[in-house]
Parts: sequence; structure tokens; C-alpha cells
Amino acid sequence: MPKLSRSWWHGFFISATIAGAGILTSISLRDFRTEALPPENRPIQSGIPGYATSSACRTCHVENYTSWHGSFHRTMTQVATPTSLPDDMSKLDLTFNGREYKGERRSDKFFIRVRAEDGSYRERQQVVLLTGSHTLQIPWLETGHGRTLQQLPFAYIVAERMWAPVTQTFLIPPNLKEYYSLGAWNGACMDCHVTQGQSRFVEGNRWDSQVAEFGVACEACHSEGREHTERNRNPIRRFKLHLTTKTDPTIKNPARLKAPDSALDCGQCHSVWAFNNMSDKIDFNRHGSAFRPGAHDLAQRFVVQPQPADHTEEKDFIRRTEPDFFRSRFWDDGMVRVTGREFNGVQASPCFRGGEFSCISCHEMHLDSPGQTSLEKWARTAQLKPKLDSDAACLQCHRTMATNISGHTHHVADSSGSRCYNCHMPRTTFGLLHAMRSHQVSSPTVVESINYGRPNACNLCHLNQTLAWTAQKLEAWYHEPMPQLSSDDRNIAAAVQWIVKGDAGQRALIAWGMGWESAQKTAGRDWIYPYLIYSMSDPYAAVRFDAWKSLQTLPGFSDFSFTYTAADDLISEVTAYAYEKWLREIRDPNATYQPETVLDADGHFRQDIFQRLRSERDDKPIILAE
Ligand code: HEC
Ligand code: HEC
Ligand code: HEC
Ligand code: HEC
Ligand code: HEC
Ligand code: HEC
Ligand code: HEC
Ligand code: HEC
Repeated sequence: MPKLSRSWWHGFFISATIAGAGILTSISLRDFRTEALPPENRPIQSGIPGYATSSACRTCHVENYTSWHGSFHRTMTQVATPTSLPDDMSKLDLTFNGREYKGERRSDKFFIRVRAEDGSYRERQQVVLLTGSHTLQIPWLETGHGRTLQQLPFAYIVAERMWAPVTQTFLIPPNLKEYYSLGAWNGACMDCHVTQGQSRFVEGNRWDSQVAEFGVACEACHSEGREHTERNRNPIRRFKLHLTTKTDPTIKNPARLKAPDSALDCGQCHSVWAFNNMSDKIDFNRHGSAFRPGAHDLAQRFVVQPQPADHTEEKDFIRRTEPDFFRSRFWDDGMVRVTGREFNGVQASPCFRGGEFSCISCHEMHLDSPGQTSLEKWARTAQLKPKLDSDAACLQCHRTMATNISGHTHHVADSSGSRCYNCHMPRTTFGLLHAMRSHQVSSPTVVESINYGRPNACNLCHLNQTLAWTAQKLEAWYHEPMPQLSSDDRNIAAAVQWIVKGDAGQRALIAWGMGWESAQKTAGRDWIYPYLIYSMSDPYAAVRFDAWKSLQTLPGFSDFSFTYTAADDLISEVTAYAYEKWLREIRDPNATYQPETVLDADGHFRQDIFQRLRSERDDKPIILAE
């Protein structure tokens, strides 16, 4: 009997389990049918354990949610919809590398049809995802290989409302035709452009990528919040926390972390990093980042700084396997030169040694002073703390300097030449088609320009002065030793040398810099026109773009249109027209030009010098890997 009984019970359990499973299957299938099956042709947002997503935080943190919602972090990666995609997506009709790309809309979905050179059409591919929101947008296509994505070869430049080949929205050599390979989104971009992404490589070129949330959301900076959310459902706990410490150990607040750890929280994405080794890379790929806010290092990864003696073996490995890695990201003295990698600069700043310096010394991730500035303005000005305009960001720590600004800067107190940022964080980094403030606090020297080719802060504003002029002042004012200088450095304005004979990285910085209002006011505008017009036919697209945008800041050219991606002959035609227009219509006939600007009294280039500088142009290929 007991035997029978046992088997009876046993049998009951089995059938009960099976019946239960049957019910579960039918429930979940029904749910899926009504609540839309997750698409199989793109990465998806899935329930990654521990993560609750931003909508779960909203009920209790309305203000934090609102300010985050207004920031560009939210829209970093978006599913392709009629509202997230550029307006003219369905009318898209572009040619690149002999292929024609046509857009097509079917209800709320967008497709691309590609016509090859032989006239045959390939199958249409759906546009499924979008990277970027306010500067540059890159749409991604389904590939037929699961969630693996392929890049549309065009990007949308938001401010210009124009499409350009992706290869012409970066600083890369003109002969490079393909930039992102198949699967690049899954294998690289998602590492920094989503919240807790898992690339999940399957085989061949097939990925099954999933994320906790598209966009850089709450839990990217605060760590996963499911436990925090669940425990705070208890009103007594909530009340107690709110009345007492206002802190909660179940979640991380960067403002309560030590400054270096708080900065690294941002640095998990805003840095040049590399994997420690292959097995850590595989782990990251399968499970996502093991870094959590508050940690002192990036777990499976490390922040790559060229100079210090850490991670020597790993860095040697990088040098062997990717010889241009450092050159594409850093100046030769180790200062980071591409945007989006601010942590490298912050970490290498002298201020960082004090232990209090972090991103939130200057930025805030939730607008803290409602009423003082609009959410939109704050988002558009890099989420800087509105109260910290001009010099306050530096003076909060360097308090004693506030009493005698002019004594230190040798410029009158309200001059642009007295602003701390302009001398100590000049625009020497580049990316997204613009020059950006270096995040490595440093002091201007002429040596940095001679040894590493980096435009120094003085000559970035005094565009019409030579390196010798700057060296003399730095010696007189700050006792910096006088360096050895070439005859060009004594006679020709530094900016003229950089924009004519510099490498593409230098040319881009000056093409952008000549449009900077402070520099134009300091160095005069009259002589700048011909240099910008000349640079509009530069071999590098990024230089042409910036020269054109800077030209638009000058009187007479504000609405000058120019397709910087056009064929060479068309570009020559337009620049020749612009030059004639300047000479005949815009140029002030009474303008005088300093000899350092290499212009004759009538506004023509002094051909002997100009042609020589041109022939000395540094044409070594450059990629700036943003
Ligand atoms: C190491 C982290 C990292 C990786 C990897 C990365 N990005 Fe970014 N990206 C950033 C950061 C940080 C910014 C913001 C930079 C800024 O605003 O100056 C950014 C900005 C952008 C923007 C402009 C955003 C906007 O709103 O206009 C685009 C487009 C972009 N990235 C595309 C890509 C693509 C495509 C890839 C993959 C091939 C990629 N990124 C890989 C960190 C990264
Ligand atoms: C890019 C990183 C980042 C993202 C994304 C982010 N936060 Fe924050 N959060 C911070 C930082 C940094 C602070 C510290 C104060 C500051 O800088 O504004 C903070 C502070 C807070 C605080 C403490 C109260 C306060 O305002 O100081 C709460 C609550 C909070 N965040 C909730 C959220 C919620 C909810 C979301 C998403 C809707 C979110 N955060 C998204 C970085 C972020
Ligand atoms: C049910 C309510 C509730 C939900 C949902 C909730 N929180 Fe909180 N959160 C709290 C309470 C209560 C505190 C304690 C501090 C206070 O009262 O302001 C807190 C504090 C915080 C802090 C500050 C912690 C500190 O030590 O300074 C952060 C950051 C935060 N929450 C982020 C989040 C994020 C991110 C989410 C979504 C994943 C979230 N919260 C969801 C109730 C909630
Ligand atoms: C998960 C990755 C990630 C984390 C963590 C992160 N960011 Fe970002 N951040 C990005 C990306 C990607 C962009 C580009 C978004 C854009 O500009 O559209 C960006 C954009 C920004 C911008 C706006 C740039 C612009 O062009 O206006 C600022 C400022 C910024 N981040 C600061 C921070 C700070 C400060 C922290 C830490 C508190 C932080 N970020 C944490 C990935 C991240
Ligand atoms: C959070 C505090 C903090 C902020 C903000 C800050 N600094 Fe510093 N800074 C320091 C500390 C501390 C040191 C000294 C580090 C050391 O002990 O060597 C320093 C060092 C420096 C140095 C080098 C001094 C030397 O003798 O070599 C310069 C230059 C400098 N800061 C300029 C600036 C400027 C310009 C800004 C604003 C863009 C700024 N700092 C913002 C804390 C700060
Ligand atoms: C000493 C002040 C200061 C500190 C510290 C600082 N920033 Fe900035 N940041 C600025 C200023 C100023 C700008 C330029 C705004 C502008 O364009 O005028 C800026 C711009 C940016 C941008 C926008 C770049 C673009 O493409 O226009 C990003 C992204 C950014 N910072 C991220 C960070 C991160 C991440 C950290 C910490 C690792 C950090 N910043 C630390 C002052 C600072
Ligand atoms: C952001 C712009 C800017 C920067 C950076 C700047 N200056 Fe100036 N500078 C000015 C302006 C504007 C004037 C006009 C007088 C004034 O405002 O003090 C000026 C005046 C001068 C003058 C006196 C007038 C003249 O032309 O002889 C000298 C010398 C000078 N600057 C040298 C320097 C040196 C050296 C540096 C770097 C350490 C520097 N400046 C950085 C804007 C700048
Ligand atoms: C015209 C350019 C210029 C401006 C503007 C400027 N500095 Fe400097 N600063 C320098 C130079 C050059 C040095 C290097 C001097 C040396 O090598 O001793 C320096 C050095 C420093 C130092 C370290 C040495 C010292 O004297 O303590 C600090 C700190 C500093 N500056 C802070 C600031 C702050 C804060 C501001 C804004 C109020 C500012 N600077 C504005 C050019 C400038």
C-alpha cells in the first residue's frame, strides 16, 4: 500500500506539473499575441534581472524623471518611429559609392531599398533603430541575421537638416568608403549608447542583443533599481528614510560618492577604455558591464591613458594589434583629443589630484535650480550648472584667485582673455564635426604647439599672432622659458600655418576656431574670409564643413549655401564664386592686413609664401576615433 500510495502521489505531481505548464504556456502565448511579439529583426529591451527601467522610478521621483527626460541621454538610442526618425526619411533618395538608396514608408514602418550599379534592386530592409539625437543621427537597418544591425551609409546632421555620408561626418581620410562594418552597433556602439547592454554574440555575424533600456537611463548612473523600487513600496520605510537620512543604501547617488568614483560613473561611457583580456570581453559581451556606480575601476575593462605606467602589457598589446589606436585618440603628450571621452581629460587634470574634482563639479544631471533657466536651455548647454557661468566653476576651489583676476590673466577683468576656460580648457578636442573644450585642465604654452602640434589657447584666440609673439608674452608674464622657434614661427601667424600646412586635425580645429566670436573680436574678421573660403575645398570633409559653418558667421555670408559633400569640381566652382564675391562685394576696401596674415594690401594671398605653405601641407592620413 505505501508503495502504491507513493507512486500515486508521484503520478499526481507529474500530471499536475504538466497541466500547470500547459496553462502557463497558453497564458504566455496569449499575452505575447495581444501585447506584440518582441521584434526579431533588432535588439530589444528585455527584463534584465535587477533592472526596473525609468518608468518605474517616475512615480516617486517626478522631478528627477522630468529633468532626465529633457536631457539627450534619454534619446541616445531610439527605436525607429515616425517621430524619432528625421522628417524626410520616407522621401530619402541618395547615392553613395555607386548605389542608390530610396526611403519608403508603410504605415508606421520605414524601409530602404538599395539599387546597385547594375540597376538591380536588393530586397527592402527595415530601418529599425536610431543612434544620436541632437547633433547627428545614424539610422540602422535590419540584416536578416537576427538582431544584427547594419548601418545606413548616411547620417542626418540635425542643425543643417541634411543627410551626408557617414564617412563625411567624421574626421577620416577622404579615400575611406566604408566606416562601420556589419554588426558594429551590436559589437561596439551599444557598449556606451544604452543602459546595461548585452551584445550576445551568437555565431558568424549573428547577434542576439538585448538591453535593460534604450537610451542612457536612470539605472546607468544609479545602478539597477528593482530592489530599491520594491522595498520603497513600503510607505513606512519611505517615510522613515525621508524624515531621517534621505539616503538609501539600495541605490547609488553619484553626489554621495567620492569624486574620483563619481567621475568614473560617467567615465564608464565618457572615456577611452579597452577590455582587460579576451575572457573579460566575452563576459561583457554575454552579461553586460560588471561595473556598478561606486566601484573604483571598470571591472572587465580599464581606462586607457597612454602615458602612465599602468596596464603596460595590455597597452603594448594594443600598440601591436592596432598601431594607430593612440594617435587616433590622443595628442603625443597623452592628452585626449576626441570628444565624448572627457573622463580621460578630467583624470589627467592637476585638479583631480586634490580628490574633489569630478564631472559634477561643473555639470549637473538633474536641473537643480528651476526657474533660473529652462530645461531646454540647460540640455542645450551640456547640462552645465547654470549658477556656475564664466569663472565660478574654477573659483569654487581656486578661491584666492577671485581677488585679483587681472593680475593673473594680464587682461582686463571683463575681457574674454580673462575667462579661465579660455586659457585652461581651450577647444582642442574634436568630434561630431565641432571643436570642443579640452577636459584636461592645462596652462597654455608654446612648447605644446611646437612639440605636439596642439594649438595653444593664446593663439586660438589671437588668430593673427605668431608663436613668437605668444612666447614673448608667456615669458614676460609667467616666466615660461623661451623656446627655439623657426623663421615661420616668428613671421607667420600660428593659425595661418595650422590651417594651410597643418595636418587635418589641426586644420579642422582652426576652421572651426575662425568662427568663434571671441577670436573674431580679438583678431579681426577682414582677413579671415579667404582662409575659410580656401578651406572649403580641403580634402577632408570635416574641414570643409567647419570652414563653411564659420564663413556663415561672417557678414555677407550668413545664408551662403554650400554642399560640402559635393564632387570636387562643383566645390571648386562654389569656392571660386565665394572668393570673387568676397573680393568684389564684401571686402572693406580700406582694410589693412598685418604681414603675419600673408595677405597683400588688396586682399590677395601673397602667392610666394602661400604656395610654399600649401606645398608643405602635412598630408599624413588622420582618423579621429570619436
Ligand atoms: C566609449 C563609448 C562610446 C562608444 C563605444 C560609442 N560612442 Fe557614440 N558617443 C559617446 C559619447 C560619450 C557621446 C557624446 C559626445 C558629445 O556629445 O560630445 C557620443 C555621441 C555620439 C553621437 C552624437 C549624439 C547626438 O545626440 O547627436 C552619435 C551619432 C554617436 N555617438 C554614434 C556612435 C556610433 C555609431 C558608435 C559605434 C560605431 C558609437 N557612437 C560608439 C560614447 C560612445
Ligand atoms: C547621466 C547620469 C544620470 C542619469 C541618466 C540619471 N541620473 Fe539621477 N543623478 C545623477 C547625478 C550625477 C546626481 C547627483 C546630483 C546631480 O548631479 O544633479 C543624481 C541625483 C539623483 C537623485 C537624488 C536627488 C537629487 O536630485 O540630487 C535622484 C532621486 C535621482 N538622481 C533619480 C534619477 C532618476 C529617477 C533618473 C531617471 C529618470 C535619473 N536619476 C537619471 C546622475 C544621473
Ligand atoms: C516607491 C517609491 C520609489 C521608487 C519607485 C523609486 N524610489 Fe528612489 N527613493 C525613494 C525613497 C523613499 C528614497 C529616500 C530618499 C528620499 O526620501 O528622498 C529614494 C532615494 C533615491 C536616490 C537617492 C539615494 C541617496 O542615497 O541619496 C536615488 C538616486 C534614487 N532613489 C533613484 C531611484 C531610481 C533610479 C529609481 C528607479 C529604478 C527609483 N529611485 C525608484 C523612493 C523610490
Ligand atoms: C551609459 C553611458 C553613459 C553614462 C553612464 C553617462 N553618459 Fe553622458 N552621454 C552618453 C552618450 C552616448 C551621450 C550622447 C548623447 C547625446 O549627446 O545625444 C552623452 C551625452 C552627455 C552630455 C551632453 C553632450 C551634448 O552634446 O550636449 C553630457 C554633458 C554628459 N553626457 C555628461 C555625463 C555625465 C556628467 C555623466 C555622469 C554623471 C554621464 N554623462 C554618464 C553616455 C553616457
Ligand atoms: C574641485 C576643486 C577644483 C576645481 C573645480 C578646479 N580645480 Fe584646479 N586644482 C585643484 C586642486 C586641489 C589643485 C592642486 C592639485 C595638486 O595638489 O597638485 C588644482 C590645480 C590646478 C592647476 C595646476 C596648478 C599647478 O601648480 O600646477 C591649474 C592650472 C588649475 N588647477 C586650474 C583650474 C581651472 C582653470 C579650473 C576651472 C576650469 C579649475 N582648476 C577647477 C582643485 C580644483
Ligand atoms: C571644470 C568644469 C568641467 C568639468 C569638471 C567637466 N566639464 Fe564637461 N564641460 C564643461 C564645459 C565648460 C563644457 C563646454 C560647454 C560649451 O560648449 O561651451 C563642457 C562640455 C561637455 C560635454 C559636451 C561636449 C560637446 O560635444 O559639446 C560633455 C559630453 C561633457 N562636458 C562631459 C563631461 C564629463 C563626462 C565630465 C567628467 C568626466 C566633465 N564633462 C567634467 C566643463 C566641465
Ligand atoms: C578668448 C580670447 C583670448 C585669449 C584666450 C587670450 N587673449 Fe589676449 N586678448 C584678448 C582680447 C579681447 C584682448 C584685448 C584687450 C583686453 O581685452 O584685455 C587681448 C589683449 C592681449 C594683449 C595686449 C594687446 C595686444 O594685442 O598686444 C596681449 C599681449 C595678449 N592679449 C596676450 C595674450 C596671451 C599671451 C594669451 C595666452 C596666455 C592670451 N592673450 C589669451 C583675448 C584673448
Ligand atoms: C590669459 C590666459 C589665462 C587666463 C585667462 C587664466 N589663466 Fe591661469 N594660468 C595661465 C598660465 C599661462 C599659467 C601658467 C603659469 C605658470 O606656468 O606658472 C596659469 C596658471 C594657473 C594656475 C597655477 C599656478 C598658480 O598661479 O597658482 C592656476 C591655479 C590658475 N592658472 C587658475 C586660473 C583661474 C582660476 C583662472 C580664471 C579666473 C585663470 N587661471 C585664468 C594663463 C591664464
